Amino acid sequence: MIDFVDLHCHALYCVDDGAKDENTMESMLDIAYSDGTRYLCFTPHFKIFEFDSEDEMYEQMRRLDRRFKVACKYTCEKYPDMHLFLGNEIMYHADANESLSEKKCHYLGNSSYALIEFEPDSSAFEIESSVLRLLRKGVRPLIAHIERYSAIVKDFSLAKSLKDNGALFQVNARSITKFKFGRIAKFLKLALKKGLVDVVASDSHNATSFSPQLSKAYDVITKNYGHEYADSIFHSKPLAILKNEQIF
Ligand SMILES: [Fe+2]
Repeated sequence: MIDFVDLHCHALYCVDDGAKDENTMESMLDIAYSDGTRYLCFTPHFKIFEFDSEDEMYEQMRRLDRRFKVACKYTCEKYPDMHLFLGNEIMYHADANESLSEKKCHYLGNSSYALIEFEPDSSAFEIESSVLRLLRKGVRPLIAHIERYSAIVKDFSLAKSLKDNGALFQVNARSITKFKFGRIAKFLKLALKKGLVDVVASDSHNATSFSPQLSKAYDVITKNYGHEYADSIFHSKPLAILKNEQIF
């Protein structure tokens, strides 16, 4: 079994709608480790428009750093071969470019890749122009849960165009095991068949209904698309992102 790399996870406690306390974070880390994850990047939500002031934003970032140290202490003692990183899931907004260029929010680990989300009903124009703006600024966008955006799901040429321009795609593990029929399942099957998916991650928010497990989705991908592709999207590519290597 390969070491899983989870690049999208809300296990850092008391910083967003993820882990509600330290115990929940520890349980989530226990689940991730026992499921085979050895590299995990915390990606608490970052929505610049939700802060009332810059002071509030900087206080939140200091809070992330403090919680991250607590998490590292826990895994250092219990799981010394587990590697933790800090990032953000950044809701795209006109000010997001500035936040990224001024390092007000976190890229994935210390890489130049950033996990970017959009509103589910964002238009094709909004998504495409935002991605181009990020790329021009030197940010390499990994689009979070690509299957969630109706503009992309209903127009596969948009997905191909985004990829051609340099965007990377992340899919939620739960979507792979959950959607068997319907337009999201159809989109995912085509995207996986064409090799458009770069990363599968948990996007986990708790230790019960939305936990950081990747193995079930890994088995589905291995069975349907082969272990080589499964290994690349659960291990090699996400690890290359953390190492800030070029992804093709
Ligand atoms: Fe998320």
